Amino acid sequence: MRLDRFLSETTPLTRSLAKRALKNGEVTLNGEPIKQAATHIDTQEDVVVLNGARLALVGLRYIMLNKPADVECTARRGLYPRVIDLIDLPKAERLQPVGRLDVDTTGLLLLTDDGQWSHRVTSPRHRCAKVYVAELAEPMEGDVAEWAINQVAEGIMLDGEETPTQPATLRFLAPHQAELTITEGRYHQVKRMFVALGNHVEALHRRSIGDIELTDDLAPGEWRELTPEEIASF
Ligand code: URA
Repeated sequence: MRLDRFLSETTPLTRSLAKRALKNGEVTLNGEPIKQAATHIDTQEDVVVLNGARLALVGLRYIMLNKPADVECTARRGLYPRVIDLIDLPKAERLQPVGRLDVDTTGLLLLTDDGQWSHRVTSPRHRCAKVYVAELAEPMEGDVAEWAINQVAEGIMLDGEETPTQPATLRFLAPHQAELTITEGRYHQVKRMFVALGNHVEALHRRSIGDIELTDDLAPGEWRELTPEEIASF
């Protein structure tokens, strides 16, 4: 890899600032000062030091975030802070949310810079189960709850769509609180499913995606790297 590119990949420097740092004599290659931006280096073997700090390429990263409300899953800056603003890692903007949560939805959000892994998690073909807990505006119990459970199990026609939702699992934790497990990721799917059932979601939280569960040690806004087992589960 070219030395200026290596510097811009491993630090917050842009390519032109990397060239300037080289010109200013801030970089050594294997212990010798180096100024030529076009020098080709072996990214595994060569030792590149910028102002005393050894630089290394970051590998692929896999993150679990406990998403708080009022934070957006977009790359562009807008009305709300972005989820990547919560990840204090170099080059955090390279991390992509693996599927999106609405701005008011809380809970498990995965982020990665591994596009193939992300595709395995989100591809409809893989039918990965996502578990949500919804706080409902209207209580559902007795026959109404049973009717809703059956509707969800059979598949519901959502407003403006041509195919019913895939069979899903609904479980009532309390009259105003339900756990819904779905294997698709249609637009606002959980909220629209409850609208189709004559209710309204007041708050929504994602607990798990496949075998990856949000762990209790993460307060809203906190994140951790996935374990090798969690990564391998997809
Ligand atoms: N379904 C929704 O309606 N919203 C989300 O954020 C996720 C799933």
